[in-house]
Amino acid sequence: GQYTASQRKNVRILLVGDARVGKTSLILSLVSEEYPEEVPPRAEEITIPANVTPEQVPTSIVDFSALEQSEDALAAEINKAHVVCIVYAVDDDDTLDRITSHWLPLIRAKCNPSLDGEGDAEAEAEGDVQREPIRKPIVLVGNKIDLIEYSTMDSVLAIMEDYPEIESCVECSAKTLHNISEMFYYAQKAVLHPTSPLYMMEEQE
Ligand code: GTP
Ligand code: MG
Repeated sequence: GQYTASQRKNVRILLVGDARVGKTSLILSLVSEEYPEEVPPRAEEITIPANVTPEQVPTSIVDFSALEQSEDALAAEINKAHVVCIVYAVDDDDTLDRITSHWLPLIRAKCNPSLDGEGDAEAEAEGDVQREPIRKPIVLVGNKIDLIEYSTMDSVLAIMEDYPEIESCVECSAKTLHNISEMFYYAQKAVLHPTSPLYMMEEQE
């Protein structure tokens, strides 16, 4: 049968983002409740049982590694995921810039294969595409907050204004475990209780 988002019986979370931002560390910190000093390139897929998740649904968490996975494998994972967490490192502006220059357009393109093409992804990022896009819910995750004294929230809120599929954002640290459980809760919530009209066109001006 057809389920609406809020009736979903499981949640699949994919973490993407540039190399070294801490994707694998975030997953292993959540699972072991301590910071792993050494991590493999890619964490094994894990499924957290319903009774230990805040929303009481079994939740799978999937890591991405550019070292171990092809672009096709990434596209397949984007399509299988119910929500994508784009991770950046708060101490590295390049990884923040890549959210809009690379990751958000890539995810839109992979969810809308007919729009996938060099010019189209760009046009879509500008909001020029007329077709009704499929919007995968996104959570922006700023990791390594233990390294800085300022916040990246101003930049992130500006990005959120341009991309309505971004459901929420959070700054966290795999090292101190700050906001780690919150990050995964926001991802669950983005699937189970989305606030933006994910499958509709943006309102016309
Ligand atoms: P790739 O697998 O190469 O794509 O990287 P990744 O995004 O999985 O990052 P990974 O978890 O391998 O972490 C990269 C480096 O950042 C490692 O040296 C981690 O120990 C470090 N790191 C991860 N999270 C944090 C954090 O919250 N704070 C600090 N200070 N360092 C972190
Ligand atoms: Mg990794």
